[in-house]
Amino acid sequence: MAESKEFEYKGISITTELPGPEAKRIIDLDERYLVRSTKSLPIVAKRGRDVFIEDVDGNVFLDFSSGISVTNVGHVHPKVKRAVMEQLDKLWHFAGTDFYYEAQVNAAKAITEVTPGSFNKKVFFTNSGAESNEAAIKLAKGFNGRQQFVSFIGAFHGRTQGALSLTASKAVHKRGFFPTMPGVEHVPYPNPYRNPFGIDGYEEPDELTNRVLDYIEKFVFSTYLPPEDVSAFVVEPIQGEGGYIVPPMNFHKKLFKLASEHDILVIMDEVQTGFGRTGKFFASEHFGVEPEMISLAKSIASGIPMGAVVVHERLNFKYSGMHSNTYGGNLLASVASMETIKVMKEERLVENSAEVGSYFKKRLEELKEKYSSIGDVRGIGLMLAIDFVKDRRTKEPDPSIRDRVFLNCYHNGLISLPTGSSALRFIPPLTVKKDQVDMAIDAIDRAIKKSL
Ligand SMILES: Cc1ncc(COP(=O)(O)O)c(C=O)c1O
Repeated sequence: MAESKEFEYKGISITTELPGPEAKRIIDLDERYLVRSTKSLPIVAKRGRDVFIEDVDGNVFLDFSSGISVTNVGHVHPKVKRAVMEQLDKLWHFAGTDFYYEAQVNAAKAITEVTPGSFNKKVFFTNSGAESNEAAIKLAKGFNGRQQFVSFIGAFHGRTQGALSLTASKAVHKRGFFPTMPGVEHVPYPNPYRNPFGIDGYEEPDELTNRVLDYIEKFVFSTYLPPEDVSAFVVEPIQGEGGYIVPPMNFHKKLFKLASEHDILVIMDEVQTGFGRTGKFFASEHFGVEPEMISLAKSIASGIPMGAVVVHERLNFKYSGMHSNTYGGNLLASVASMETIKVMKEERLVENSAEVGSYFKKRLEELKEKYSSIGDVRGIGLMLAIDFVKDRRTKEPDPSIRDRVFLNCYHNGLISLPTGSSALRFIPPLTVKKDQVDMAIDAIDRAIKKSL
């Protein structure tokens, strides 16, 4: 098969009204043939390279969404593409449930080598983040035989019935779908910007951690949820869909300590934060914890569908057949994942994420100086967001200005994504360069000016 001729984008180029005529035609067909989903922007993507996406009308956008933190090595990375094409020629599928693949073993080994913790680990492969969390629930229950879980208000862990029971970021996800999996209790997440206990302005971030843990111990564990019945805490190191909430730096260590006092497991959901997004390979590393269970997906294989749960070997399923799936660790995904990890190391993308991320954050802080409707700039590495408020003092969210800025960014050729009630997130591929960040800042600046 002849490879398509290589091409490269130099910058943003919007040449039609948005959406263009081809995009409109396809969106009409989408509405006709697909069930309603969660579309944010009328972009119909045709092809992409690195940090750029071209739509079906030939418009080129600067992509600061990375397909929701998936294409961390950039769109259609040549080395990942080659690995997948070579595998395409050999074999696509033979069922990792019942037979063995060398590529799957190699991918598992590569993943265990980059995830935190020097203990021996084992991997269960899935096809998505929700499915990783479903598997994690079963691994936890299978290990300790306990039935209850504690997750956090603002959390997003997926939309399948088990994962949905842990999710608590938007009511629409759950409305009309009860009962979900029974046995899930939600507790406040330590949000330093909008304190869940309503005492903004004078509480130290570390004190906020103590309040959340006190709440769990004094109100939850001692009154209605005996800790001996809790199988696991399920937690994001930084809340993603909940609004890019970075908890106080001592939070996870203290949560792990509380968990271990009661022999409760911790399922760390790094589906969005993983693979260099925050300037470390995994966000857990910022907080000095080594989770025994990590849920992964998204950027693990650069867009070839894959997820995984990585667990301490002591948590292995007790019997064969307790859990399995047809496609987990599919051959194309396995080679894509191995190559993704290789590329991340060769191109020092984790380091780039930290370096360009801090430059980007500084530039966003400059915008905050300029526009009083930006209440907060937050995030680590290239997982960044700005939060729009009606009033900086009350921090009342302003979703309407956020939505206008989001749309105006799109009209300026920059793809971003909303998160939480009033924040706009920027999650470019980790290959992004400072001059591309400047390009984005210019688009955001003009978008805000127009939206006021
Ligand atoms: C932290 C987290 N967990 C789980 C999921 C669900 O992943 P998926 O959409 O692949 O099921 C997401 C998706 O955004 C996520 O951000």
